[in-house]
Amino acid sequence: MPPKCQAHSTPPECRVPQVPLLRPGKSLTIFCRLFLTVLLASSLSTAQTADQAWLRYPGYHGRTVIPLKARALGHGSLEQSAAQELQRGITGLAGASSCISNSAINGETIVGTAEEVHKAYPELAVPNDLEPEGYWLDWAESKGHALLVVAGGDQRGVLYGVFALLRRLATDQDVTHLNLRSHPAMPIRWVDEWDNPDGSIERDYAGRSIFFEGGQVRQDLAPVAEYARLLASIGINGCNVNNVNAAPQLLDADHLKQLARIANTMRPWGVRLALSVDIASPQKIGGLSTYDPLDPGVQSWWAAKAAEIYALIPDFAGFTVKADSEGQPGPSSFGRTSADAANTLAAALAPHGGVVLYRAFVYNHHLDWHDPKADRARAAYDIFHPLDGKFAANVVVQTKEGPIDFQAREPVSPLFAGLEQTSQAMELQVTQEYTGQQRHLVYLAPMWKQVLDFDLRADGRSTPVKEIIAGKTFHRPLGGNPGSPRTGPRPWGGNPGSPRTGPRPWGGGMVAVAGVGRDAWLGSPLALANLYAFGRLAWDPNLSAEEIAGEWTRQTISSDPEVVRTVVKMLMQSWPAYENYTGPLGMQTLTDITGSHYGPNIESSENNGWGQWHRADHLGVGMDRTVATGTGYAGQYPPEVAKLYESLSTCPDELLLFFHHVPYTYRLHSGKTVIQHIYDSHYEGAEQAAQFARDWATLEGRIDQTLYQQVRDRLVYQAGHAIVWRDAIVQYFLKLSGIPDEKGRAGHYPGRLEAEDARLTGYKVIDVTPWEDASGGKAVSCDQPQVPPEALASPIVPGNLTSCTAEWTWSGAPGRYNIAVQYFDPAGGGAAFSLVLNHQGVDSWAAGANLPSTRPSGDNSTRHITPNVSLKPGDTLEVRGIPSGSNHAVLDYIEITPAAAVP
Ligand code: GCU
Repeated sequence: MPPKCQAHSTPPECRVPQVPLLRPGKSLTIFCRLFLTVLLASSLSTAQTADQAWLRYPGYHGRTVIPLKARALGHGSLEQSAAQELQRGITGLAGASSCISNSAINGETIVGTAEEVHKAYPELAVPNDLEPEGYWLDWAESKGHALLVVAGGDQRGVLYGVFALLRRLATDQDVTHLNLRSHPAMPIRWVDEWDNPDGSIERDYAGRSIFFEGGQVRQDLAPVAEYARLLASIGINGCNVNNVNAAPQLLDADHLKQLARIANTMRPWGVRLALSVDIASPQKIGGLSTYDPLDPGVQSWWAAKAAEIYALIPDFAGFTVKADSEGQPGPSSFGRTSADAANTLAAALAPHGGVVLYRAFVYNHHLDWHDPKADRARAAYDIFHPLDGKFAANVVVQTKEGPIDFQAREPVSPLFAGLEQTSQAMELQVTQEYTGQQRHLVYLAPMWKQVLDFDLRADGRSTPVKEIIAGKTFHRPLGGNPGSPRTGPRPWGGNPGSPRTGPRPWGGGMVAVAGVGRDAWLGSPLALANLYAFGRLAWDPNLSAEEIAGEWTRQTISSDPEVVRTVVKMLMQSWPAYENYTGPLGMQTLTDITGSHYGPNIESSENNGWGQWHRADHLGVGMDRTVATGTGYAGQYPPEVAKLYESLSTCPDELLLFFHHVPYTYRLHSGKTVIQHIYDSHYEGAEQAAQFARDWATLEGRIDQTLYQQVRDRLVYQAGHAIVWRDAIVQYFLKLSGIPDEKGRAGHYPGRLEAEDARLTGYKVIDVTPWEDASGGKAVSCDQPQVPPEALASPIVPGNLTSCTAEWTWSGAPGRYNIAVQYFDPAGGGAAFSLVLNHQGVDSWAAGANLPSTRPSGDNSTRHITPNVSLKPGDTLEVRGIPSGSNHAVLDYIEITPAAAVP
């Protein structure tokens, strides 16, 4: 609890000078001295930790004024959180202590619900129609004293108002003229965590669960409280804590009690607990003989389970359901529909105000690849569109942004326009499953913005996705009683059971698969921009990706304009760059879709039932999804959009191969052939990735050094892995199409010396699978007796440990060169490498970066650069590899480039 100021015993830190007040903005020179003038030095010396994410409250470069004193008008826990946060923020921002007091002191910030503010200050013009979760910030005067007012439509609104105020301060915005009113665009703003009870997390890249360990809820929930605080700061009001591939035992009595601890921990931050449920739970843990959703016994089981949950967690938000999908049980086993299943759960939750988020990610993963009409992209629409109007009012159909699965580029799911009588939410992924797994910088807000702004032209009118999922387009009422005067429980907005106070007739939402873990939330400092952006867009999808990037950078890294400019530029270019060097033209990510979803593996998506096909052969590439000759998927869109995609002449280049199969020589709107675009985009993308590392290097000394180093290492790795991607895709399509690169790059690598062409001692030539992941398809592997892992930790003296050697003789011009060594770093062991020139060691390093896959592949192909090595003709160069465990120090090639060519 913050210190309380007592009128008769005011602690020194709470005393403020008593001077006359004027309304801010009239004249800064005579502006009240009760406001703290914040003049902080640049943030160069500010400590930064990724764990604190954006709530660091760094100082300002400029001058701003804020009241030192803050006061909560009410006693609700959310309002107390708001007041505490305000104090914490002011303290951090000002570098001075503040105090929250119930005693009236001239000049203060007051926080409370609109009703509370109105009661305490009847003379203030507080809007009486503030929306649930909305807020109003304004300066006012009361009895000659200045007040900074944070009024909420409800308690959550108070909390969000405080965070909005702090955001303005933390991003150096002038707050002397506020008068700001805001409310969220959509009521469902949830994060989904895919955590398993054993503490592992599906598709996460940031360590173990903050919620679970060893089958139980963790004792230490402090990180959960911090996470809820982070979520509240961006307006997130729900958190589903377990994997959609749900462990049924979480619904047993013991686990529900444990889960109530999580709910209690998140509640002060307005974040409500939701759970993923296994539709077969009545049978798996309830002992029933069936889980048929229309069986009365099953329905009673769910009703009793819901009652049990609400007895423990009165503000429980609801269930998320993955059924009939990727091996999960579902209603189809009983000949029932998704609506039957959803409605059974909805009926159980309805008396308590809960909702069912039923995922439209339902598809057959045993499709017949030989069937030209088979198409996974069709599944969601085919299954859910016929059910439109059949879902209960508290069911929300949750649809992934695109029809496949979070690929680097997909069209918008047509289902958004296909459900006019059903509430909808859009699911997107903050955790970068298919977009570089946080090892690559990929700021996803520009992609999400394209989806949100996309006009589906449903019923021939303007229907952007952001308005559909907000419930506006089709006037979707929320959670039952559509005809009621909005006096029922507000299922996702304010306090449970409180009356609806504002005009929010429609609603749906946005849900992000977040994947936070114990490793600095997302495992990578810059990846947090995605979590931040998700919350900001769910609040206001009209914000631009660029302004969100700027906000995040100022709060997280620095307000130094040069830093902001550089980081925002990098963020904004990162998604296009990733798309360029992975799978452009709508081919999808071209990654290992049956395995890691990380490195290149072009054929992994073909010849199997998963349906992420691109159908590349020696003549052409792309999925024909037209109505005329293909799978008919294009026809699932409303007519204007269907027409756009159906025709080769109007289909945008970026989605061409998603909708059409064309020859490699087909000319894009850009004038390039498809094959030349594949070559060019990969070279361009790899160059963009290299540029990120150079851009970041310009920030050294301007930002926190630890952060600088962490991000630098990642960007250097990314630049190397972008080359792996580039070369894999380019050499694959060169071989398949037989069409050379007009610019002569594909298949020609100046300065590259293949390991398989070297003089080898101990090393043996191996084929790498898939072949395109190694230069020329081959590498060399050291199968010598293994050394113990400890040996690798000691300084590596060439020759003092068992090693294999690849040796070349330099025949190029004398000069200084950078030497890139390309090696594989599979999981399950370490390896040590050294670079030796004329029998003298010049560099050594350890491999063991914990990359995906236990065999050498594009998942773990890694580049190490030794800069500025002086070479003359006749010099011998060796790479020595020392294997340990299953890491066989596998070497692909070395590449020698003039030193000036690489930073
Ligand atoms: C992808 C992902 C799975 C996940 C699934 C889902 O297929 O790879 O791990 O379970 O999406 O969204 O349900």
